[in-house]
Amino acid sequence: MTGFARFLEILDVPPEVDDPEAVDLDTVRGEIRFDHVSFRYEGNSDVLNDVSFTVARGQKLALVGPSGGGKTTICHLIPAFYELTEGTISIDGIDIRKLKKASLRDAVGIVQQDVFLFGGTIRDNILYGRPGATEAEMIEAAKRARIHDFVTSLEHGYDSEIGERGVKLSGGQKQRISIARVFLKNPAILILDEATSALDTTTEILIQDALDELCEGRTTIVVAHRLSTVKTADEIAVVSGGNIIERGTHEELMELENGIYKELYTLQFRGN
Ligand SMILES: Nc1ncnc2c1ncn2[C@@H]1O[C@H](COP(=O)(O)OP(=O)(O)OP(=O)(O)O)[C@@H](O)[C@H]1O
Ligand SMILES: [Mg+2]
Repeated sequence: MTGFARFLEILDVPPEVDDPEAVDLDTVRGEIRFDHVSFRYEGNSDVLNDVSFTVARGQKLALVGPSGGGKTTICHLIPAFYELTEGTISIDGIDIRKLKKASLRDAVGIVQQDVFLFGGTIRDNILYGRPGATEAEMIEAAKRARIHDFVTSLEHGYDSEIGERGVKLSGGQKQRISIARVFLKNPAILILDEATSALDTTTEILIQDALDELCEGRTTIVVAHRLSTVKTADEIAVVSGGNIIERGTHEELMELENGIYKELYTLQFRGN
C-alpha cells in the first residue's frame, strides 16, 4: 500500500514544462550568477534571503557554514529543481528560466550528500552519466574516480548487481561510482555537496584525489567540510540563516577579527 500511495504521488507531480521560448545552452562557458535570489520551500518561510554572487568560468566557490544554513538549497536551485521566489539565476548571462531544462541539466553535474544509485549493474550505474558511452570511456571514468580496481576485484566485475542480492557497497564506494558517472558526463559546471559522514583515511584520500581531478577546468560550487577543499577554493562564502555572511579567500577570512570562518576553521583543527 505504501508503494502504491507513493506511485500515485509521483503521478500527481505536474510534468516540468519549458518556457515556450526556452533556448538551448549551446557551448557552455560555465559562469554562474545569483542576483538577489530569495527562495522558500512550499508553505515555509524564506530559506534564502537576497543571495547574490558570481562564480566566473573555471573558478571554485566553497560554501561553508552551519547545518540548515541553506548550502544544499543553493546547489539545488542551479539545475532548476525548484522555482525561485525572487531574483534571478543565470548561466553565461542567460536566465535559467529561459533555458530548456534538458539543456541546463546537461551542463551541470552533481555529486550529492545522498548518493543516488539504482538497482542494476555497476556498469548501468556509471553509464547513467552518459548513456551510449563506449566500454573504454566507461572504464576510463571509473579509473579516474578511483573505483576501477575495486570493481575488477569483484567476481562479476562491472556486471556485478548493486541490488539487494548483489554487492554490498560502502558509502565511499557508492560515492566513487557517482563520481565516475560525472566524469563520463563531463559537464562544464560541477556541484559537489560533500558528505559529512566520516570516511576512513584511505578512502578519504581516494575520494579527495578523484574530486580534485573532477574539478579541473570546470566551474565548481562545493559544499565543503574538508579543509583541503576549502583552502584551495578561489572564494569561500559562509552561508548562515539563508544569507552569505562572510566571503573572501582563506587568507582574507582568517584575518577577520571574530570571523565565523576563522572560528569554524580553528575549531576543526583543535578537533584533529
Ligand atoms: N525539501 C525541503 N522542504 C522544506 N524545507 C526544506 C527542504 N530542504 C531543506 N529545507 C529547509 O531549508 C533550510 C536549509 O536547508 P539546507 O538543506 O539547504 O541546509 P544545509 O546548509 O545544506 O545544511 P547541512 O549542512 O546540514 O547539509 C533548513 O531549514 C531545512 O529545514
Ligand atoms: Mg546540505
